[in-house]
Amino acid sequence: MEPIIETILHRRAIRRFAPTQIEEEALQQILQAGLYAPSAGGRQGVIFAVCQDREVNEKLGKIKRANSNFRMATNGNYVSQEQPSIVDDPKLTSSFYDAPTVITMFAPKNFLFSAEDCAVAAENMMLAADALGIGSCYIGQGWTAFADPYGQEILKKWDIRTDYYAVMQLLLGYPREGDVHPAAKLRKNDRVLRF
Ligand SMILES: Cc1cc2nc3c(=O)[nH]c(=O)nc-3n(C[C@H](O)[C@H](O)[C@H](O)COP(=O)(O)O)c2cc1C
Repeated sequence: MEPIIETILHRRAIRRFAPTQIEEEALQQILQAGLYAPSAGGRQGVIFAVCQDREVNEKLGKIKRANSNFRMATNGNYVSQEQPSIVDDPKLTSSFYDAPTVITMFAPKNFLFSAEDCAVAAENMMLAADALGIGSCYIGQGWTAFADPYGQEILKKWDIRTDYYAVMQLLLGYPREGDVHPAAKLRKNDRVLRF
């Protein structure tokens, strides 16, 4: 199998992170993968705000958790048993799961393809991370992490343009020692139509 296909099949959402920060060289390669992603009209509008300040990440992750409107998973309807998400485990207090690196991806508010641009960049980055032995998790609705006065203060501190919004976060970190790499859920059938 081609290594890229192996990586695609191997990548899983990781939410249990070792405390060690990721290597700078690996981060640079992951960012390059994001910068080389396709973008609508070739506009390259996505801004990658990399935060490795644990205190800031913890505060934003808690704000996001507080602003998340979700139903807790019920028995048998979990997101992940091996790497529980906030809907699986009510004891988790941060939507960023203590990841040492959190990349918030910002894109223009008034551009039709902002979400897609961020998503394709994120997938490139998640695959690059997996190939480098780094765990990642896609976090949707990125703006909810900034929806209080502290979050607004951070946006100003980071000098984020007011006509941009936080589409999503990408979490990065080494998987916890001893954790088994999660298995993919069974693929649902009948999703491919052939004509
Ligand atoms: C658009 C989108 C939003 C997501 N948002 C979250 C999130 O807020 N929190 C989280 O823990 N995982 C989030 N995920 C990760 C999914 O839960 C994960 O991809 C899914 O459970 C399948 O697991 P796998 O990635 O290991 O195949 C998101 C994934 C996508 C594509």
